[in-house]
Amino acid sequence: MKQPAESPDELLMRQAIELAAKGQGRVEPNPMVGCVLARNGEVIGEGFHQRYGGPHAEIQALRSLGAGSASGATAYVSLEPCCHHGKTPPCTDSLIASGVQRVVLAMKDPFPQVAGGGIEQLRRAGIEVVCDVLSDRAIELNAPYLKRVNSGKPWVIAKWAMSMDGKIATHTGQSQWITNEQSRQDVHLTRSRMDGILTGMGTVRSDDPMLTARLPEEIGPPPRLAQRIILSRNTLPDASTKLMASARSVPVQIIAGPDIREEDLINCEQLGAMCTRVNEGESSDLIAAALLELGKQGMTNVLLEAGGNLLGGFSDAGEIDEYHVYIGPIRLGNQHAPGPLGGSGIDRISQAPRLKLHHTECFGEDVKIVYRQ
Ligand SMILES: NC(=O)c1ccc[n+]([C@@H]2O[C@H](COP(=O)([O-])OP(=O)(O)OC[C@H]3O[C@@H](n4cnc5c(N)ncnc54)[C@H](OP(=O)(O)O)[C@@H]3O)[C@@H](O)[C@H]2O)c1
Repeated sequence: MKQPAESPDELLMRQAIELAAKGQGRVEPNPMVGCVLARNGEVIGEGFHQRYGGPHAEIQALRSLGAGSASGATAYVSLEPCCHHGKTPPCTDSLIASGVQRVVLAMKDPFPQVAGGGIEQLRRAGIEVVCDVLSDRAIELNAPYLKRVNSGKPWVIAKWAMSMDGKIATHTGQSQWITNEQSRQDVHLTRSRMDGILTGMGTVRSDDPMLTARLPEEIGPPPRLAQRIILSRNTLPDASTKLMASARSVPVQIIAGPDIREEDLINCEQLGAMCTRVNEGESSDLIAAALLELGKQGMTNVLLEAGGNLLGGFSDAGEIDEYHVYIGPIRLGNQHAPGPLGGSGIDRISQAPRLKLHHTECFGEDVKIVYRQ
């Protein structure tokens, strides 16, 4: 079916949202925001929030005018402008001072110090404000930010590589490598914009992973350095594991349930890991408490790279927001070779949550499928 043509406001908002996306991995825990300034439908300036603590999108767009004026123009902003003094002064003040006559917004900012206050200030200054233009697209882009503001927990992306017959390892426990170099490079790109990469002791024991983002030179350094996180109920990694051996140069955090002995945690601290205790022992409660703790630490995006046990625990707890499933063109067979999700699972098909297909990509013979909850 043919899509209805976009209105002039929607076209310019699409540009603002595309600009916003350029900040991904650099601005969190702030939201990604883009701004386009237009007069009579013609773009005269643009900007986006480029890094955490840096100038906001509206300020960048106004600066892009140089000696030009925004008087009588329309500002298209992908998120409600801030009206409070945070790391930078309020954007509403700058928009009002610039003489823009109309502000078009994709969505309100639920952040408690804004939450409609930005819109009110602009209207009080006599500026026409239009809301909810392409709001679905803006909400989708900033879903991790919105989740953290609304629930206190980071956005969880579960990633796994599986054979075309749905196995994440052979029946002997081998999983390296199911997918090709290009797919693995794509995982490194995803890691490079995460705040945390979370795994379980099963994976540490069998794969001894580094869980760092290793990007080709031409891409440059990762936008952020993810903390490697181990969620543990009973066992802890020893000094010989790659994670612990590198804990002084790339951060490692152990989130420990109530049964882990204090002296074992102190040993890990001495090896350079940060240790956080959560008192909930039951799987779903432990996972929820761990995520709240990571949210409190300011994390917006966490990549879950684990085996079937921990992935299953997250799935049972309803704590996965996005799935990155990489399928390699191999078949592994065997009833006992594990699939991606252990845990208790679902009894009846009718009870299974239906996910939304976000997009698919091909890397040579591999396929990546991204679903969202
Ligand atoms: N293909 C892939 O993408 C991929 C990725 C990773 C791993 N793998 C494969 O998966 C296999 C390892 O799988 P696995 O299931 O043993 O490892 P896992 O899921 O990484 O780790 C499981 C461990 O996590 C800990 N844990 C902490 N909280 C938990 C909770 N709420 N629910 C469940 N577990 C929790 C438990 O250890 P404690 O009780 O000791 O704390 C548990 O034994 C290996 O063969 C590995 O090669 C494949």
